Amino acid sequence: MKQKILELLGAGHPWAGSVQYYKTIVSTNDEAKRLANEGAPHGTILIAKQQTGGRGRMGRSFHSPAGTGIYFSVILRPKCQAKELMHLTCAVAVAVCDAIENATAFRPKVKWINDLVAQNKKLGGILTELSLNPDGTVKYAVVGIGINCNQKPEEFPAELENIAISLQTVLGNTVSVEKILAQLIYQLEKLSCNLLSAKEQIMAFYKQDCITIGQQVKVIDSQGTHQGTAVDLREDGALLVQFDDGTTEAVGSGEVSVRGLWGYC
Ligand code: BTN
Repeated sequence: MKQKILELLGAGHPWAGSVQYYKTIVSTNDEAKRLANEGAPHGTILIAKQQTGGRGRMGRSFHSPAGTGIYFSVILRPKCQAKELMHLTCAVAVAVCDAIENATAFRPKVKWINDLVAQNKKLGGILTELSLNPDGTVKYAVVGIGINCNQKPEEFPAELENIAISLQTVLGNTVSVEKILAQLIYQLEKLSCNLLSAKEQIMAFYKQDCITIGQQVKVIDSQGTHQGTAVDLREDGALLVQFDDGTTEAVGSGEVSVRGLWGYC
């Protein structure tokens, strides 16, 4: 697996020497954070065949069976303030869509803020975790990406049956996990060079991929559920929602879940 990814990526790629492969791991994000705290450099990549404790946003789990999915984390060390990096998840979403499109000719959509979707079902997700210095600068960011690649519909657990989908189901044929992984590394390295300088352009691409804008949504926070319409996106990735009482608010990705009115999307 690792050998094939490196062949596809090319030995001269700046991140080729920092790919680590695990047969089984609890969570590539947890291990990436441990390595980052020990000083692992920018561009350290962790790929697992299986995760036993894969995690998503808001404490949800991410189903990570052996061999059929992509479970990937990368350590980034951008030199900036945390507040300059609020668009990171959106930027990674565009890079992941580019990677999947280049590897399979199919471009997924994005449900704000971090879900990859196809046919109104979840194809994967992004989990971004930041560690900060006392002065507010970024110590490191761990970006975790999970993609359902070759699962058959009946292989998802019952609770995901109507929510999750794989690339194989979308395309009608198995996909090369190695090809997608090599593309992911390529796109993420490119992104890490432009992350701060091309923010406006990146967010314009995110808007094109994001299906949530223009939709009626339910915003679920600690206060309850509020209904409205997602009208736009701010440059930091916050969603502008016009609520049914006429007020418009910027909804950050913190502890907020946004759902369509009917079903998952
Ligand atoms: C979500 O659905 O909210 C995000 C899912 C992110 C899953 C990936 S798989 C690799 C990395 N390790 C984890 O534990 N989570 C991320």
